[in-house]
Amino acid sequence: MIQPVILSGGSGTRLWPLSREQMPKQFLSLLGSDSLLQQTLQRLDGLSASAPMIIGSHTQRFLLAEQVREHNVTLVLEPEGRNTAPAIACAALLAQQNGEDPLLLVLPADHAIDDVAAFQQSVTNAETLAKAGYLVTFGVVPTHPETGYGYIVCDKLDGGESLTAGYRVHRFIEKPDAERAKALIAQGDTLWNSGMFLFKASAYLNELAAHEPQMMSTCEAAVASAHRDLDFLRLGKAAFEAIPAESIDVAVMERSRRAAVVPLNAGWCDIGSFDALWAASPQDAAGNVAKGDAWLCDTRRSLVMADQRLVVTLGVEDMVVVEANDAVLVAHRTRAQEVKALVASLAQAR
Ligand code: GDD
Ligand code: MG
Repeated sequence: MIQPVILSGGSGTRLWPLSREQMPKQFLSLLGSDSLLQQTLQRLDGLSASAPMIIGSHTQRFLLAEQVREHNVTLVLEPEGRNTAPAIACAALLAQQNGEDPLLLVLPADHAIDDVAAFQQSVTNAETLAKAGYLVTFGVVPTHPETGYGYIVCDKLDGGESLTAGYRVHRFIEKPDAERAKALIAQGDTLWNSGMFLFKASAYLNELAAHEPQMMSTCEAAVASAHRDLDFLRLGKAAFEAIPAESIDVAVMERSRRAAVVPLNAGWCDIGSFDALWAASPQDAAGNVAKGDAWLCDTRRSLVMADQRLVVTLGVEDMVVVEANDAVLVAHRTRAQEVKALVASLAQAR
């Protein structure tokens, strides 16, 4: 049986001013009427899996509970974010508590997937490798040198040593710069890491113990001191705060020799930036995406989102204009990745 683990503790600052500390992007309805988190849950319908475990932040607990109230889920709360490697470790330790060692299907809560059947087929394809002890990621054929993703160099996709329905990972490179990303794509045997994983709880924990022993022992302490609070399972605060922060990609995937990749061709993308949101949304004939009370004149390939006021654009191309009640962002669409750094310096300056 598969145990889904949904990661919902990120802050999504590249989507500021829509995504805020109190309302991060996974809770926003960016594509359709349901939030990205709700769409992640719906994507599991029909898959043979147990009730999903959602791990997120204590500060967002009411939002979390409200958004998932129609679903049978376990809600696990972190007192503060320590990035994805500890979140997954705590989920793995909790999943083992009744003496089982399930396959964990780790899913970020900020993705869009057009073809749910193809996604579920890739998960099924990955089971053999995961049961054999591999840490399986789902690899997507890259379309451009995206710097917000991890890259996987695998055995040649045509004719190389292939495992059942998957490939051995030679190297895993988390978020290369643009030049390196270009070179990796030119190699031809490179895939994007989708950030979704399938592995046995024990397989992940063994790798973590080998590469990050301190993270492993502090996560064990946080799970040992977890307690129930109404509908939530709270990880022990003092123990959790001692956990070093790191992503699964850097802590485990870049170092593991047990990594494998199964192809995913399902219209996948991470709604990581306004550029990604623009690309994933239906566009008009001029390539524009307009939401709310927006009036676009002689405007091309732009994303314009109006929340409180009328927003008008004239004679512009490749722009992002996002109006929220207390802030407005105007940026070149191709620089959307830089919003994260911008928000960090804004927070320091003000
Ligand atoms: N519980 C919890 N705690 N969840 C977290 C935390 C945390 O401290 N930090 C992030 N998350 C959640 C986010 O909400 C998101 O759903 C998921 O974990 C992934 O985190 P991101 O911060 O969105 O990662 P990323 O997009 O920069 O990079 C990852 O995903 C890419 C593809 O989407 C990496 O795995 C890349 O290699 C990958 O290409
Ligand atoms: Mg992401």
